[in-house]
Amino acid sequence: MLRVDDIHVYRGRTYVLQGVSLEVGHGEIVALIGANGAGKTSMLRTLSGLLHPRRGGIFFQPHVNAAEIDIGRMPAEQIVRLGVSHCPEGRGIFSRLSVRENLLIGAYLRADKNDIEADCQRICRMFPILGERARQAAGSLSGGEQEMLAVGRALMGRPKLLLLDEPSLGLGPLIVETLFEILAAINAQGVTILLVEQNAVMALALAHRAYVLETGRVTLSGPSQALIRDENVRDAYLGGAS
Ligand SMILES: Nc1ncnc2c1ncn2[C@@H]1O[C@H](COP(=O)(O)OP(=O)(O)OP(=O)(O)O)[C@@H](O)[C@H]1O
Ligand SMILES: [Mg+2]
Repeated sequence: MLRVDDIHVYRGRTYVLQGVSLEVGHGEIVALIGANGAGKTSMLRTLSGLLHPRRGGIFFQPHVNAAEIDIGRMPAEQIVRLGVSHCPEGRGIFSRLSVRENLLIGAYLRADKNDIEADCQRICRMFPILGERARQAAGSLSGGEQEMLAVGRALMGRPKLLLLDEPSLGLGPLIVETLFEILAAINAQGVTILLVEQNAVMALALAHRAYVLETGRVTLSGPSQALIRDENVRDAYLGGAS
């Protein structure tokens, strides 16, 4: 579905992605793990058209039999229309708007009113707390609930590919577990997921495959089960857990 071919990205003078290649297959959950400042957010911002590679290509295939589309230089809005939704680092919730208004913002490129309402209800069944708090200010939600709102809002764009930037950040283990169970269910319903995480334990438990990013380069990749057993990964990201 997604093929990133040797991209080089700068932020100002900082060389943040130094020739990164990765692939995400249709229906997969792929994790991109790495420490602070490795370039994970820059990667997602590049995929959604908020940054552009100076060199290299990004190709998106909306359906299994469709032709690949070069999205490397496409504006963000067009990439959203192709079916790529980005759930940003820090969640980007509009705290004075209601929960429902935040969800509707995720459908701003759609005109199909009845379907939008149906999707809103579907998402509130998926995350019951969002249904219960629909009319409350989003800022009154807990961190975990705000993350659910951010995921729900991204789903309102009916994405084929969902990009998630550190959904577990700052959340307690129980809420992370609930959230990741819902992510697995979203994936089972046909949404492909690229998950960026510092929480390697949770990310590797959920993802089929993973890439390790270190200072702008992929240093390791493979099936999650293999990475969990890898000594370097265990020392660096799993706290040497046994
Ligand atoms: N707006 C910016 N201008 C210049 N450099 C930036 C900017 N944002 C990030 N950087 C630099 O780019 C590099 C990669 O940052 P990025 O935010 O992509 O990493 P990250 O893996 O998401 O880190 P974190 O775990 O802290 O979220 C870092 O060296 C960072 O200092
Ligand atoms: Mg980041």
